[in-house]
Amino acid sequence: MENPFIFGKVITGDYFLDREKEQERLKQNINSGVNSMLVSPRRWGKSSLVRQVSDSMQNEDSSVKFCFIDMFNIRKEEDFYAQLVTAVLKAASEKWEIWMDDAKQFLKGLIPRFNMGSDPLNDFSVTLDWKEVKNNPDEILNLPETLSINKKIRIVVCIDEFQNLSFFDEPLEFQKILRAHWQLHQKAVYILLGSRRHILTDLFNNPSLPFYRFGDLIMLEKIPIEFWPLFISERFDSTGKEISDHLAAKTAGLLENHPYYIQYLAHEIWSITEKKVTEEVIAIAASNLLDHNNYLFQMQTDNLPNTQVAFLKALCEGVTSFTSMDTMKKYDLGSVSNIRRIKEALIQKEIIDIFQGNPGFLDPLYKLWFLKNFSY
Ligand SMILES: Nc1ncnc2c1ncn2[C@@H]1O[C@H](COP(=O)(O)OP(=O)(O)OP(=O)(O)O)[C@@H](O)[C@H]1O
Ligand SMILES: [Mg+2]
Repeated sequence: MENPFIFGKVITGDYFLDREKEQERLKQNINSGVNSMLVSPRRWGKSSLVRQVSDSMQNEDSSVKFCFIDMFNIRKEEDFYAQLVTAVLKAASEKWEIWMDDAKQFLKGLIPRFNMGSDPLNDFSVTLDWKEVKNNPDEILNLPETLSINKKIRIVVCIDEFQNLSFFDEPLEFQKILRAHWQLHQKAVYILLGSRRHILTDLFNNPSLPFYRFGDLIMLEKIPIEFWPLFISERFDSTGKEISDHLAAKTAGLLENHPYYIQYLAHEIWSITEKKVTEEVIAIAASNLLDHNNYLFQMQTDNLPNTQVAFLKALCEGVTSFTSMDTMKKYDLGSVSNIRRIKEALIQKEIIDIFQGNPGFLDPLYKLWFLKNFSY
């Protein structure tokens, strides 16, 4: 029987829980032509939320067309342009013959070339002469708008891991070019997603940067914990297995209500449960998760200098005032300015972040692992 919990993949439909308000906000933005920027720490559910909105809007209204670009593997401007063109052409029509016609008609100045495999629907891409594009990127950057107007549709361009733009050779120049084109678009809408909160909030909130106030900035929160127990017990029910309300709530809370880890833990609990979940099974499942990730966490920790390890130790032991004399002495953290540097380095490495003014682990399983291995 298939495990009813999924982690580490973009999920929609039955696997997707709540996010009603955020779905509504994104839909309203799209319908009124407002761009959105969606930011949260890793694995809190950004990509799934946008996919869910895409599925539901495309079902309701066939004139709304989504396309997705993942910047995870894009390190150069030219690759970005090539992927943008392919994604937008594909969103605007379902036939590959039309993709070619559209490209010829709307990218006249760029002489596009087409690459197709035996199954053009799934294996189609466009190559462009990079020199031409660099000199004249207008047609490409305006393609979402041109096609939207021409075909009386609304193309929604979703760009995931947007912070990777900073790896380009001239990130600021490139942002300026994007912004200059996209801010004039009336029909095409943009959703920019990313997980590097500090880079992105700066990008979107700093008046001297091109993407300042480009749209509605949504800082995605975790799903409220009270939604999870029912979801968990219904998923167990649907496969003929059982979990009590109390243990479903425990499963949701054990890893700090982290969406990815709730599904990961529930997945493990489900797979070692024959019929009915017990306290003991939950403890075994949690310990299995720690075992599965032991090597990864060990490597991550081996790469940290002693002072950063000491800081994390203090953090998982519940210290809040790092600059008190007692703490600095007990954990050997050095001076106040040293502590600031440690904190910044750990934020930079995406191990901690600041939540409501206080530092906290980003990964609740790493925190558990750390407690188990470093706290005496
Ligand atoms: N609304 C939801 N309902 C149920 N589970 C969810 C939900 N959102 C996220 N999850 C869980 O979290 C996992 C990660 O979700 P997703 O990939 O959408 O997050 P992300 O923020 O895009 O992550 P990343 O920053 O790594 O790209 C999913 O595989 C799923 O297990
Ligand atoms: Mg994602």
